[in-house]
Amino acid sequence: MKIWAFLITLSFLGHVTSQGTNDNQTEAEEFLESFNSAAGKQQNILSQKQWNLDTNITDFNEEQLVKQQSIAAQFDKDMRAEALQFNSSAMSADVQRQLGKITDIGTSAQPNATKVEELATVLAEMQSIYGKAKVCLTPDICLPLEPDITRFLAQSRDYDTLETLWVGWRNETGRKMKDLYTKFVQLSNEAVQYLGYQDTGEEWRSAYESDTFVADVQDLFDQLRPLYEQLHAYVRRRLRQVYGESRFPASGHIPAHLLGNMWAQEWGNVVELVKPFANKTSMDVTPEMVRQKYTVDKIFRTAEDFFVSLGFDKMVPSFWTLSMLEKPNDGREVVCHASAWDFYNQKDFRIKMCTDITQDDLMTVHHEMGHVAYFMQYKNQPVIYRDGANPGNHCMHID
Ligand SMILES: *[C@@H]1O[C@H](CO)[C@@H](O)[C@H](O)[C@H]1NC(C)=O
Ligand SMILES: *[C@@H]1O[C@H](CO)[C@@H](O)[C@H](O)[C@H]1NC(C)=O
Ligand SMILES: *[C@@H]1O[C@H](CO)[C@@H](O)[C@H](O)[C@H]1NC(C)=O
Ligand SMILES: *[C@@H]1O[C@H](CO)[C@@H](O)[C@H](O)[C@H]1NC(C)=O
Ligand SMILES: *[C@@H]1O[C@H](CO)[C@@H](O)[C@H](O)[C@H]1NC(C)=O
Ligand SMILES: *[C@@H]1O[C@H](CO)[C@@H](O)[C@H](O)[C@H]1NC(C)=O
Repeated sequence: MKIWAFLITLSFLGHVTSQGTNDNQTEAEEFLESFNSAAGKQQNILSQKQWNLDTNITDFNEEQLVKQQSIAAQFDKDMRAEALQFNSSAMSADVQRQLGKITDIGTSAQPNATKVEELATVLAEMQSIYGKAKVCLTPDICLPLEPDITRFLAQSRDYDTLETLWVGWRNETGRKMKDLYTKFVQLSNEAVQYLGYQDTGEEWRSAYESDTFVADVQDLFDQLRPLYEQLHAYVRRRLRQVYGESRFPASGHIPAHLLGNMWAQEWGNVVELVKPFANKTSMDVTPEMVRQKYTVDKIFRTAEDFFVSLGFDKMVPSFWTLSMLEKPNDGREVVCHASAWDFYNQKDFRIKMCTDITQDDLMTVHHEMGHVAYFMQYKNQPVIYRDGANPGNHCMHID
């Protein structure tokens, strides 16, 4: 969960150093101290409003969030203006870096307040569409992504139902978001141009602080490609044996709904269909978790034990009382998509997740708690540093 998107969008020092004239490092440090305290409070309120919406999707909570995001964008702009008064070129690397990050405010750079609000609204609306989406198999049976559709995709081998769910999910989410997403791209690109970026893609890539980033990623992909192609061909052959050749297009693609995951991004759920050695023991521990009567709490305690065994801290007591670890059954609409939360007050850390008793979710809990373990490790750092070294670290993929 990239809650930070409105406050820092990471550094691109080339755009920002040496613009002002104040070269007094003591004054810069005083500014950073007051920034820290104000930014922590600002980010805490913003996280609260985002949490309220994500755990209870209502128009009121959406309005509250959008309002707060406008305030936060103004705060970012004010702080940027103050940071730009310094000429940091002879200051310490640490001060230079903090000032650089404070000026790199992402879409908050949009000077038109109406457009700032439009962007926040577009994002909240897309999230709400996603959170509320259900696919109807019959007029009476309408399923949410979590847990029902996810479990179905993992376990069912019925081609037509899998296809209905896959297509239905796109129909209820992507199709409804298409215009909003186009608007998001336009508004976001326009906003970051005020910082000197060509577009949001350039701004996102700048976070990696590498001039050869695109070429490096391409190079890694090229190295992996031969293995990937063989794996793809192998899995396709096995799945053709299961579902029949007529189900597979001549183009060589694997229909995405056959891979056990809504985004076809992890194929572990079809391992029983494709594994080469039929008599090898299963790699899927879901049945064993059910047999051992795993509860949601037990999954999270298992993850906590794992991180403690690596030397990380235990979850704080409020983690267990304030997190949303299961889908509420009081009629509230929530964003089930799992996420980890830092409330930027050094004591409030949470996970929001609609946990199911499956191997997938056992792994997702470890993934999310990994974020929290890091949040807790760097809670005493300046606010601007309380994030991964780059977006590849707190990698926010859908899982
Ligand atoms: C910033 O300071 C450096 C020396 O530390 C100086 O060379 C440069 O001219 C200054 N730039 C501005 C804009 O004052
Ligand atoms: C830097 O600023 C501090 C605080 O305002 C002041 O006490 C100090 O004299 C300044 N140093 C220089 C070299 O101007
Ligand atoms: C959900 O939000 C509404 C405001 O829109 C509020 O009245 C209600 O109490 C909230 N429900 C929960 C369970 O927090
Ligand atoms: C600000 O944006 C709104 C909505 O896009 C637009 O109608 C308005 O003209 C803009 N204001 C200025 C001063 O550009
Ligand atoms: C797509 O969604 C629309 C409106 O929500 C609905 O009328 C239509 O039946 C859906 N089509 C499919 C293929 O799910
Ligand atoms: C797999 O196990 C079955 C039953 O235990 C046995 O009949 C068969 O020969 C085994 N296959 C291989 C390849 O080991």
